[in-house]
Amino acid sequence: MIVVFDSGLGGLTALDSLVKRYPQKHFLFYGDRENAPYGNKSVKELRKIFDGHAQRFAQEGVKDVLLQCNTMCSVLDLEAYPFRMHDIISLTLQQCEALPRDSRILVCATAATIKRGRYQQGLQEMGFAQVEGCALKELAGMIERFASKEEVLSYLQEELPAGKFDYVILGCTHYPIHAELFQEVTGGETIDSTDLSYDFLDEDEEGGLELCLKKDDELEAFLQQQLHVPYRWAHE
Ligand code: DGL
Repeated sequence: MIVVFDSGLGGLTALDSLVKRYPQKHFLFYGDRENAPYGNKSVKELRKIFDGHAQRFAQEGVKDVLLQCNTMCSVLDLEAYPFRMHDIISLTLQQCEALPRDSRILVCATAATIKRGRYQQGLQEMGFAQVEGCALKELAGMIERFASKEEVLSYLQEELPAGKFDYVILGCTHYPIHAELFQEVTGGETIDSTDLSYDFLDEDEEGGLELCLKKDDELEAFLQQQLHVPYRWAHE
């Protein structure tokens, strides 16, 4: 079993491609909506939150955790756990290898991710000189409360830096839900973590997707729009 972990609804953006790409795997999606949004919390608070979950995962014998959360990937020591932690920041950055080095790149992410600077530093090391970071402090929280497209668009118009970018890295898994709005406002092509290929341990399991989330009507309507693969609820 592979745990896919995020602060909330963001991690859902990768599930379609994961379930299709790895049909023999059993995915348990865990969205920590009680503690969301993560992005404005301190490093200490974030580590404490994750360590609480990690203890349970270890007790349950989990072998792989796909940390579908850039914020946690930015602040944790990914080697320090008794299970494998898959790092979406490194994998997302790999997608930039093919881009021309004179591209103008905007990195959009939570305050914690921008502050820790893994994207900006990684891009610089790859030879990109025109990189700008933009912390969108409210956006993940807005998405958690199902803000309308209009509300998100006017927030992006206010917060995103002026000027045209060739590429926009959506360095928070919540953001691909509104990828087209990022394109509209920045004129750039978006790069995100919705379709990455992982090196999972090979095990024979019954495949499928299980959701560990608190069910409610708004959430179910959201899932109908976002998920196009079958799923079951972890607690019924
Ligand atoms: N979706 C997460 C990320 O990729 C966290 C967003 C949040 O909870 O602030 O960073």
